[in-house]
Amino acid sequence: MTTADPQKTTAVAEKDPAGGPAPEDTGPLVELRGAGKSYGNIRALHGVDLAVHPGRVTCVLGDNGAGKSTLIKIISGLHQHTEGEVLVDGTPVRFNTPREALAKGIATVYQDLATVPLMPVWRNFFLGSEMTKGPWPVRRLDIARMKRTADEELRNMGIVLDDLEQPLGTLSGGQRQSVAIARAVYFGARVLILDEPTAALGVKQSGVVLKYIAAARERGLGVIFITHNPHHAYLVGDHFSVLRLGTLELSAARSEVSLEQLTNHMAGGAELDALKHELERAGGVDVEALPGAPDAGEPAGTPSEGTA
Ligand SMILES: Nc1ncnc2c1ncn2[C@@H]1O[C@H](COP(=O)(O)OP(=O)(O)O)[C@@H](O)[C@H]1O
Ligand SMILES: [Mg+2]
Repeated sequence: MTTADPQKTTAVAEKDPAGGPAPEDTGPLVELRGAGKSYGNIRALHGVDLAVHPGRVTCVLGDNGAGKSTLIKIISGLHQHTEGEVLVDGTPVRFNTPREALAKGIATVYQDLATVPLMPVWRNFFLGSEMTKGPWPVRRLDIARMKRTADEELRNMGIVLDDLEQPLGTLSGGQRQSVAIARAVYFGARVLILDEPTAALGVKQSGVVLKYIAAARERGLGVIFITHNPHHAYLVGDHFSVLRLGTLELSAARSEVSLEQLTNHMAGGAELDALKHELERAGGVDVEALPGAPDAGEPAGTPSEGTA
């Protein structure tokens, strides 16, 4: 930690020494109060309350078109909300650009990462924020320091790569996401937004990304993890917000919701029931064998609804 570039090391990293307990909650880093967004007359998001706390993972779940990307675009400065409030450190904000959000420590890792696959890992780590040495006009890239720092920072996050000279494109999808997460942490992110980081990955690679989400949380970041996979969410999540057609269908702390209940919310329990009845009427489908319905005659031991 002492060897990190002082210009690039934020106060946040210092306040929160690695290995210490999760920081005492000082209120949400980011908060949405009745926030919404319309694109022309399409209301993509409406009346959403959400709080992002340091050292916690807030999962945002929902089917395609539920409004997940719209939600994070508001927080990350790509779009502006058209109703309600967005607060950072308790102060209402309205970001005009992602740069303004970044200046407040809100970093977003998109699924289509803004990276250069043919460039070495360390170059991508510093892309757009290269370290230099020497005075103008003979200033040049400080390659040795960038390599050393990238290596240290990746190791700090538990990411060990054989060779930082290898082109980023040769890494697996999970490793690339991990490098992007480590990069955001290094450049002082307090809030890390991940838009469906596991959507295109297999089971093992998803595990890699989930591990680094947990590592970011351990370092005291507030993480917003967008996914439509309740199993992935439940492995790392502290809070679960389920969007349906632009509104919050569920907002629950981990202690208030089981994986089964979360899965049922995601599957759209009621809709699935209706579908089963239709299939039953159509005939030829063994509806008892279909998953999800609470009254589907599950064997004993399945907890009933509403036990939370
Ligand atoms: N730029 C846009 N212009 C118009 N409608 C949009 C735009 N972006 C998203 N939408 C609409 O808003 C709704 C939510 O989309 P989105 O936030 O992308 O959902 P998700 O990420 O959960 O799949 C969808 O109905 C989508 O068609
Ligand atoms: Mg989306």
